[in-house]
Amino acid sequence: MSNPSDKIHQVLSNVRDPETGRTLDKTNQILSVEATEEAAAVKIGLTSHSAPIKDEFESNVSERIAAVLPQAKVEIEIEEFDRPPVPIGQIGLTAKSVIAVGSGKGGVGKSTVAASIALSLSKSGAKVGLMDADVYGPSVPQLLGLGGRPEVINSKIQPIYHGKMPVMSMGFLVEEDQAVIWRGPMLHGSISQFLRDTYWGSLDYLIIDLPPGTGDVALTLSQLVPLTGAVVVCTPQQVALLDAIKAIAMFRKTKIPILGMVENMSGFTCPDTGKVYEIFGKGGAREKAEETNVPFLGELPINIQMRQQSDEGNLASALDDPICAAAIDKIVRALARKVGDEAAAVPTGAALPVL
Ligand SMILES: Nc1ncnc2c1ncn2[C@@H]1O[C@H](COP(=O)(O)OP(=O)(O)OP(=O)(O)O)[C@@H](O)[C@H]1O
Ligand SMILES: [Mg+2]
Repeated sequence: MSNPSDKIHQVLSNVRDPETGRTLDKTNQILSVEATEEAAAVKIGLTSHSAPIKDEFESNVSERIAAVLPQAKVEIEIEEFDRPPVPIGQIGLTAKSVIAVGSGKGGVGKSTVAASIALSLSKSGAKVGLMDADVYGPSVPQLLGLGGRPEVINSKIQPIYHGKMPVMSMGFLVEEDQAVIWRGPMLHGSISQFLRDTYWGSLDYLIIDLPPGTGDVALTLSQLVPLTGAVVVCTPQQVALLDAIKAIAMFRKTKIPILGMVENMSGFTCPDTGKVYEIFGKGGAREKAEETNVPFLGELPINIQMRQQSDEGNLASALDDPICAAAIDKIVRALARKVGDEAAAVPTGAALPVL
């Protein structure tokens, strides 16, 4: 019969790193194992990329150890482990996961969802950047209350920071009341400049807010860097869902993996009575996700504060609202898990470092 430490090592040899989807690196990630039949203490290194799902990783490992050492009190300690991103694409972007948030339709809350996902990932401890790829109608600066002109230092555009999070948007480069009238090639140029020439630093996640409509920007992006995938945002009513189906077809055509669908504005809880009104219906996106074989990441209800605080440039504080925060947290966790699954599906020897 193997001793308690061996049993734990055996368990850990089957645990996957949530970032790479591969087994944990014995030398750098299994930092210490001390165990008797009565007590087990394990120290594991995880990257900040896994921060959004660190707690569920911890309880999963704890349960698996408890299954082989049923008498033991199990303690898991997670330490941050640094695995720098491998530069990707022809432009050498240093981001581990590049996620575009889009939909076929305007006004369904893409920017709100993109910025909320970025804020929530960042709050969990991940290194996050937010790029507003809507050059004609940038709304990220407004949502986050950011302004100022990016400086250029050493031929890199310095982003504007929301806390620790670098943000880049056309909104920082043109006056608010000026229209940006550009032809296709200039659009392509500005998107590649944002991606290539911005000083993003080393990122776990780069979240990209796509403009509404056709796939120009998605196509441009996918030519510059391999996107980890796209999140499709839609509202529950039929007209919006039809556009979401088009967006799914567009991402599939441009070979951008679809990480999942988010239903926004699903249901409204009346603050006076607590009664729930399904203003645009509910569950439509979940059904369409199933029909089209796309994961459903979660739903975000209509929230008056979210709209008010976004208008005031303070989306971040709308996420202090427990209902909003829980909804976004669920979406972000589902997304982080899905990213790990996608990474695991990359054949050995490809872009990912093999552990
Ligand atoms: N869950 C929500 N609850 C309340 N208001 C919301 C919610 N989601 C978005 N909104 C509001 O809806 C409006 C449109 O949102 P947003 O700008 O994020 O949409 P969009 O899809 O990015 O639009 P566009 O197509 O113009 O880029 C904003 O006023 C925003 O505050
Ligand atoms: Mg938008």
